[in-house]
Amino acid sequence: LQLLSVSAEMFPFVKTGGLGDVAASLPTALRHHGVRTRTLLPGYRAVMAALTQRVEAYVFNDVLGYRAVVWEGTAHGQHLYAIEVPELYDRAGGPYLGPDGRDWPDNDMRFAVLSRVAASIAQGCIPGWCPDVVMTHDWQAGLVAAYLRYDNQPAPPVAHVIHNMAFQGLFPRELLPRIGLPDHAFDMNGVEFYGQVGYLKAGLQIADRLITVSPTYAEEIQTAENGMGLEGLLSSRAANLHGILNGIDLHDWNSLTDPAVIFPYAIGDIAGRRANKRVFQAEFGLPQDPNALLLGIVSRLTRQKGVDILAEIAPRLFKENIQLAVVGVGDNDIMQSFRALQLAYPRNLVCHLRYDEVLGHRLHSAVDASLIPSRFEPCGLTQLHALRYGSVPIAARVGGLTDTIVDANAAAIEEGVANGILFSPTQGDALFRAIRHAKRLFRQKSVWARLQRNGSLHDVSWHGKAAHYARLLLEMTGRAPVRIV
Ligand code: ADP
Ligand code: GLC
Repeated sequence: LQLLSVSAEMFPFVKTGGLGDVAASLPTALRHHGVRTRTLLPGYRAVMAALTQRVEAYVFNDVLGYRAVVWEGTAHGQHLYAIEVPELYDRAGGPYLGPDGRDWPDNDMRFAVLSRVAASIAQGCIPGWCPDVVMTHDWQAGLVAAYLRYDNQPAPPVAHVIHNMAFQGLFPRELLPRIGLPDHAFDMNGVEFYGQVGYLKAGLQIADRLITVSPTYAEEIQTAENGMGLEGLLSSRAANLHGILNGIDLHDWNSLTDPAVIFPYAIGDIAGRRANKRVFQAEFGLPQDPNALLLGIVSRLTRQKGVDILAEIAPRLFKENIQLAVVGVGDNDIMQSFRALQLAYPRNLVCHLRYDEVLGHRLHSAVDASLIPSRFEPCGLTQLHALRYGSVPIAARVGGLTDTIVDANAAAIEEGVANGILFSPTQGDALFRAIRHAKRLFRQKSVWARLQRNGSLHDVSWHGKAAHYARLLLEMTGRAPVRIV
């Protein structure tokens, strides 16, 4: 099965969050299930630099007003197509935000061009290759399904993967002619969303199948509380809405071989982690107390992640001989509050307010527990990283966090099945109580070790999940499912 995956991020070239990880690790996992993926990316600087041996696959003299060269090549084991349009993609800064922290003003065209090129590839413009099915990720690729519908040409089916409903790609209706869609596309059953053009809306409305990154999120987004105004549409599409959990790459996340881990240890070797905690505390100026509960967080610092609540209760935690390490970057006010806390509590808090992949790995190998106090969480990869590395996740009871964490309540401890701590609602008191509970369990060495071991044995791989994706994709093409060994 030949798959075209269309994404605005892909690790290690460009990543702001889990989308980048999944856009890279899912194709790798799908290979074992008979799916061959080619990924289309915007030709950002980092992507063009990584594509060393490249060939010109197709040239658009005019795609929505731009000249675009589609380059084909491989990098980091991935089969890639990159769209070279220097005026849209060749710039310093992130994939969505400029150096001033604001959305690039031409994001409408940057991702319309991505989707338009994807649709043309799906229609067979590249000699010698045409996908059997197309997978589009998030709002940035939402228009692919719209182009295919309104072009009215034979085209493969589209599966739209929903990583996060909070980002919708909404633009004024005047944009419509510039992105090459006909007037009649501006309709409730097309790309219109409350008087604007909605890129995510287009994907949700038109794609043949919708996939969320966890089963619970598939349910949550059909409610007013989490549907972000799209709950009605999503409920009406429930028969074609599937929830499949994310996995992580077990080679990247192997504490025995991970260069980020200072003292390598086998997965599940709880004692092997001790030295990592000790050296982490020493290096970052925290007292080297093995009995102090060391908490860690690796996260975008935004409201979604509930980190503002953590900052709020931090002084209460620090009165209890609790230590906290923060690796994250995001909203200025949240970063500012962590900076202020660090000044006030230098022996309890260490902050790295930047994006640091190595430290992100290392943290989970050193801390006792990892915090994920999200207000909503479509899947979450951090808890999977924590579980795998033997750090106990303390997480809000939302989205994919509920699908991956078994709460350490009395019954689950008794049964020996718990692997973390869940709390609700996402508020300061509930988070504080959850951390207190963790501290009590931390003192019961054998209970805590069991949590850690259960976590490290929890299946965070892609195996079963990729098989599910492969079955679904195959079914979409109308071919009989075959057993691929
Ligand atoms: P989201 O995609 O909503 O940000 P996920 O948990 O799915 O949340 O994925 C986040 C990914 O980004 C994880 O791989 C996490 O380790 C990584 N990450 C987030 N912030 C940082 C940071 N400041 N430094 C290093 N890695 C980070
Ligand atoms: C999004 C979500 C996160 C999910 C990731 C990868 O960014 O916020 O929960 O894990 O996508 O699917």
